[in-house]
Amino acid sequence: MKILTIIGARPQFIKAGAVSREIAKHKDIKEVIVHTGQHYDSNMSDIFFEQMHIPKPDYYLGIGGKTHGAMTGQMIEKIEEVVFEEKPDVIMVYGDTNSTLAGAIVGSKLHIPIAHVEAGLRSFNMKMPEEINRILTDRVSKWLFCPTDTAVENLKKEGFDSFDCKIIKSGDVMQDAAMFYKEYAKKPQNVKIEDKFILSTIHRAENTDDENRLKNIFEALETIAEEKQVILPLHPRTKKIIQNLGLKLKNITIIEPVGYLEMMWLLDNSDMVITDSGGLQKEAFFFKKPCITLRDETEWVELIENGFNVLAGADKNKILDIYKNFKFNDDFEIDLYGNGKASERIIKELL
Ligand code: UD1
Ligand code: UDP
Repeated sequence: MKILTIIGARPQFIKAGAVSREIAKHKDIKEVIVHTGQHYDSNMSDIFFEQMHIPKPDYYLGIGGKTHGAMTGQMIEKIEEVVFEEKPDVIMVYGDTNSTLAGAIVGSKLHIPIAHVEAGLRSFNMKMPEEINRILTDRVSKWLFCPTDTAVENLKKEGFDSFDCKIIKSGDVMQDAAMFYKEYAKKPQNVKIEDKFILSTIHRAENTDDENRLKNIFEALETIAEEKQVILPLHPRTKKIIQNLGLKLKNITIIEPVGYLEMMWLLDNSDMVITDSGGLQKEAFFFKKPCITLRDETEWVELIENGFNVLAGADKNKILDIYKNFKFNDDFEIDLYGNGKASERIIKELL
């Protein structure tokens, strides 16, 4: 079986890293990797291939830093050429980025069955580019690998039961990755890290592209950082916007994006996570840390329902109130994401 893996953005390298390790155990599967180039800085891309020993991409398309239409359109054109050349049996796409959608469109038009890893997630916010990408990708996929029960239910409610596809609850490949790589966690260099600190990341379009939301978030983080160190590896998107707005941040410890192994260390040693990242909300849970999510809704509702995570939106007072007063659930002994067996289930199903 030949699998064509389409990846391009940071969280996809991590997810595909877990699945590629599983694929490598099977001599009868050949994986061909296409990197769209959506993320291209070395600390947003190369570092993950190096640290996670992900096979070097067979194709690098170099399509990043563009508007949604230009990026997705150019990816479609180039991925189609690769599919003509490689004639894969399966196209594998991950998550909900523009690279995911481009791969799904090519596969569906050329009648190559698509495996969607992280299917069925919904925020029910159609303004999110990711929500559009994931709904369209799910609809044309053959195998819908759902990380959670809620994802399975979402698909059933949308009538996927009656479509020509298979819904499989696989669990979450990000847990596979975290469980494997945490043993290799590395303390970040060139930054002074206090005994107690909070780990934060901000990059979501709904926050970065709204000046009021972004200012509220940073004012809250600056206030928290007066009493406890806040370490924030800064996404290039957010970096550019902070510079353009001329935001002055004096308390937060801002660092460049770090590798996955450094992130494992930061997660393991932090007291709390404050983020708008999808992946980090779950990683906080994997590392038994409370999480405040800077969004109005989340796809990972089981974290909210179980009291591990709270939605704070982008309201300074609400963020500070939750930070000071919320009583988080600290009993993390519950299996929400499949306990590290997702990649194995996915490959078994495809075989
Ligand atoms: C993308 C995904 C988002 C995911 C995120 C993970 C879409 C629509 N969005 O958002 O779902 O959560 O990746 O991090 O696919 N940039 C650089 N260097 C890089 C990468 C990006 O400078 O290596 C800058 C560029 O100015 C670029 C901007 O960041 O235009 C945004 O990048 P883009 O890939 O369009 O979206 P993300 O915000 O990264
Ligand atoms: N991550 C990383 N270095 C960083 C920030 C994040 O390795 O500086 C990892 C993080 O641990 C998680 C993934 O990147 O595994 C999440 O990606 P991101 O937040 O960019 O995207 P999202 O999950 O929101 O789509």
